[in-house]
Amino acid sequence: MMSEIILILYTTKYRKGGDKFKRVARTMKDELSSNGSEVISLSIESKAEIKEIFKTLASQNKSIKEFHFIGHSGMYGPMYGTVAYPEQFSPYELKKLVIPFAHNAKAYFHCCRSARWFAPYFSRVQNVTTFGYHWYTSFSSNKARYKLDVSKDPFKPLYCFGCPGKKSHGYLTSVKKYLGLVKAEPLKEFKPEQGEIDSTYNSVAELYNNVFQDIKVRSDEYKWIISHLPKNKDINVLDIGCGNGALLKELANKITSGTGVDISKNLIRFAKNNNVKHSNLQFEQLNGPELPFKDNTFDLVISMLSFRYLDWDPIMKEIQRVTNPEGKLLIIDMVTAPVKLTEYPQLLRSKLKHYIHRIRYKAFYKNLRKLVHNPNWKGMLKYNPIRSEHEMKWYIESRFPGRKVEVINIGYNARIIAFDTESMENIKNINLSYP
Ligand SMILES: C[S@@+](CC[C@H](N)C(=O)[O-])C[C@H]1O[C@@H](n2cnc3c(N)ncnc32)[C@H](O)[C@@H]1O
Repeated sequence: MMSEIILILYTTKYRKGGDKFKRVARTMKDELSSNGSEVISLSIESKAEIKEIFKTLASQNKSIKEFHFIGHSGMYGPMYGTVAYPEQFSPYELKKLVIPFAHNAKAYFHCCRSARWFAPYFSRVQNVTTFGYHWYTSFSSNKARYKLDVSKDPFKPLYCFGCPGKKSHGYLTSVKKYLGLVKAEPLKEFKPEQGEIDSTYNSVAELYNNVFQDIKVRSDEYKWIISHLPKNKDINVLDIGCGNGALLKELANKITSGTGVDISKNLIRFAKNNNVKHSNLQFEQLNGPELPFKDNTFDLVISMLSFRYLDWDPIMKEIQRVTNPEGKLLIIDMVTAPVKLTEYPQLLRSKLKHYIHRIRYKAFYKNLRKLVHNPNWKGMLKYNPIRSEHEMKWYIESRFPGRKVEVINIGYNARIIAFDTESMENIKNINLSYP
């Protein structure tokens, strides 16, 4: 006989607040079990543990009518593990995750910004109504409005909800919050969207191709790649998220062969058209993190401004497989982070370079404006949000211990980071959540 339960999962080890998440879970369990429902509440610290819990519940003929996650979250959803080895289900892993949901089940994610990308995606791929918060979450001793928790008693009720705060709304809101004037944000509800959604760059491919005909307009990124190319020119290169193939076009005469892969079929079409003259280049559309190449095929793998979108653990495992052990991976990407006071000299240098760049590449800026003002661009960004610096940095540095991410360009709220693995032998074990 099938029985329906409420499942609460919470984390304690990733970043701060572990004890408080435990208290929030206890409070929630007390409230939810008051009407006689069976409520199971467990702390989980890794993707593998979660998968195991779902498997065990299914084997016990238990289905989940309500699922609650309490913990930290990155832009692409809940975080597990530790800062030294952070874990997150990538979009592909989320799709593959087998969760024994009951009919009409509901999933609640009590974590920062879960309503922006994660909850709509989860509702689509798991086919359940999903709830999340738009704002960052805070702990509060009052359920309806923010009240600073000063209790040391682990049995005192505690809540965790989204609300405007200093990070999102500045100091004035922070003062209001501590005065108890800020209400809990109502959870946002997402019903599974029906039909196919094209979340790729397809709808903006033509405009994108017009902007990035010459990869040198990405001057800092391009120079960094050139300075990190292996000395030996006899190399086979894989460009993941190759877009319209502009980078490989520029590298074609410096390498033996180049292969570009991208999820957008329209961009792959442009990449092929732009490179008909280069017989040592080929381009293929990808549909997931699996790379359709034999083991040890490449000497150099590049992900330029695409890493934020990729399925991190699955693609890393694949990159490891298709790259020669002595080969390497270069990652360059844009991330969000507010500029720090100590970074102002670098910010000023970046700004100065930017003004010179604007004069030098007038046509590029004209086309760029057309691209970013197109409504399809905004639509595409909704499905492909940018990540924060710490999220990407902690991930990359944990998988390649001892090596550091560099910052190569700084803006007020975003920056370009770069990472050279030097050798794929530097990689640490990658944990996948699916076979
Ligand atoms: C900002 S563009 C960068 C393109 C190119 N590397 C460049 O520097 O001009 C990001 C690229 O990543 C691709 N992309 C997004 N998600 C992807 C995925 N899951 N697998 C492969 N490519 C992906 C997009 O289609 C797009 O071409």
